[in-house]
Amino acid sequence: MTKTILLLPGDGIGPEVVAEAQRVAEAVAPDLVFEEGLVGGIAYDTEGDAISAATLARAKASDAVLLGAVGGPQWAGNPRDKRPEMGLLRLRKELDVFANLRPAYCFAPLVGASSLKPELIEGLDLMFVRELTSGVYFGEPRGIGTDASGERFGYETSRYTASEVARVARVAFEIARGRSGRVASAEKSNVMESGLFWRQEVTALHEAEGEGVELSHILADACAMELVRAPKQFDVILCGNLFGDILSDAAAMLTGSIGMLPSASLGAAGAPGLYEPVHGSAPDIAGQGIANPCATILSLAMALRWSLDMAAQADRLKLAVGRALEQGARTRDLGGEMTTRQMGDAILAAL
Ligand code: IPM
Ligand code: MG
Repeated sequence: MTKTILLLPGDGIGPEVVAEAQRVAEAVAPDLVFEEGLVGGIAYDTEGDAISAATLARAKASDAVLLGAVGGPQWAGNPRDKRPEMGLLRLRKELDVFANLRPAYCFAPLVGASSLKPELIEGLDLMFVRELTSGVYFGEPRGIGTDASGERFGYETSRYTASEVARVARVAFEIARGRSGRVASAEKSNVMESGLFWRQEVTALHEAEGEGVELSHILADACAMELVRAPKQFDVILCGNLFGDILSDAAAMLTGSIGMLPSASLGAAGAPGLYEPVHGSAPDIAGQGIANPCATILSLAMALRWSLDMAAQADRLKLAVGRALEQGARTRDLGGEMTTRQMGDAILAAL
């Protein structure tokens, strides 16, 4: 059966890195069918919205969506619902991809590229499971208002339901069972009601169906500290939307460059997954052809594994990226000189 992948290159360096991922996909999975659509600022400029209803429908009808990046300074003044980021948030919500998997593993040849000492990150392999479709990102009410005294204020709501916590914790447990079995759940249960609730619900789920899983709880601030002090103590880190956003960026740098980090966002079994690099649109280097395509290519590998039923091809692709790095392939973020295209060529050659 042919599988369809919808490419949403988006803004900034998005189109550059997605183009390389497409070349690699054509080589590794020649039967894949590609479609392309608009998301983010480019969609706003072209279609008047950060993602159109038609694009959302095509995303739902595909087997997987590969997204580049959204956002840029030219749209920073857009009204909230027309901001490029809203295209991405709506896509996540509509696809109901509640479990965001962000692996942070260190390719051996990149041990020296991290800002941390090599012995701290050698062999690092951790997995964030970030809740992606609820929490403070989506909670209502929210807004910017003016109180009775005329002072302006901004606020939002951090809200999680029991089923929202349970379904993402279940994914974390499942993934941990295929690894070391250890899950650290990070929240701020010391100050946030939603954090205390998160801890209670994760604990309850663990008691009910946590067989084979060793669960620990950690405050999100302490988790940030431990991630840069001794990152290898962690295996699977489970967290809500906002803490997952922040902690996964920190973890990204452990691996040498945020240009190396892929992600998969999964919903119900059989529903299309959304795959995107963790880095953003990087407007400062957009259009120069120097962005690192590895995170997008590794996101494609995750799509092959989780949505397209091509685990063998996913393994080959990850090995090819490792091989290219071993042979010295480096974009600028990794301390090299290669262009985006040359990095793609190096990975294709390694394939
Ligand atoms: C990410 C990004 C997004 C987020 C932005 C672009 C909306 O930072 O995927 O980590 O905050 O989730
Ligand atoms: Mg982020």
